[in-house]
Amino acid sequence: MEKEKLLKIKNLTKIYDGKTETIALKNINLELDGGYVYSIYGQSGSGKTTLLNILGGLDKPTEGEVYIANEEISKLNDRELSIFRNKKIGFIFQFHYLLSEFNVLENIIMPSLIESDFKDLRVKKEKVKELAKILEIENILKKYPDHISGGQRQRVAICRALINDPEIVLADEPTGNLDSKNTEIVIDLFFKLNKIRGTTFIIVTHNENIANRCKKKIMLKDGEIIKIEENY
Ligand SMILES: Nc1ncnc2c1ncn2[C@@H]1O[C@H](COP(=O)(O)OP(=O)(O)O)[C@@H](O)[C@H]1O
Ligand SMILES: [Mg+2]
Repeated sequence: MEKEKLLKIKNLTKIYDGKTETIALKNINLELDGGYVYSIYGQSGSGKTTLLNILGGLDKPTEGEVYIANEEISKLNDRELSIFRNKKIGFIFQFHYLLSEFNVLENIIMPSLIESDFKDLRVKKEKVKELAKILEIENILKKYPDHISGGQRQRVAICRALINDPEIVLADEPTGNLDSKNTEIVIDLFFKLNKIRGTTFIIVTHNENIANRCKKKIMLKDGEIIKIEENY
């Protein structure tokens, strides 16, 4: 039997209607196996964020189909989508979106409690401990976001994205705000987490070094996949 693909995109097109029409994605087709770190690489305006947002169900395609773990997410309604997202997908953005009035631990746990009950809280706290060790943030769990460094904030955001054991983590320019040292730390962590937990990562980036470290470098230009480089 053929191995099921974690991700399948068929004839995906996205058109933004405004004063003028923008064709952000043109007839994208893509299939990816689970268990690797991938990159989506391209210049600003090439459609990277649009593609990632549609993959994560944050935006709807104009045409086409998107399947994640055999679920056609382009067909789900808003409620079904939010349940699916909460269970299966983790998001990491360029800006960490931590809430300054809550401490690190609360920031990590809170979003994951939306669909859970109180009993889950203990399990979640155990999970934070396990992840915090890998991410080297065990010592800052009681601190507030304004009192930790930019690199630490991004590692907290990674922890938050992984707390529900997602199958796939979507990261949109996750190192866009970091210096080169912290960029390396964050990308190393993606590979480490992939190795330890088997989580699939898709990293949107215009950093060629990062793109070249990934299993596949999916190159976007003007809304089209112009090339897919396989690195190993
Ligand atoms: N909400 C939107 N409304 C209208 N046009 C948009 C919107 N979001 C993105 N675009 C346009 O779609 C194209 C792709 O944008 P985007 O996916 O953000 O590219 P990237 O992330 O590679 O910089 C660009 O031309 C951009 O201006
Ligand atoms: Mg973008």
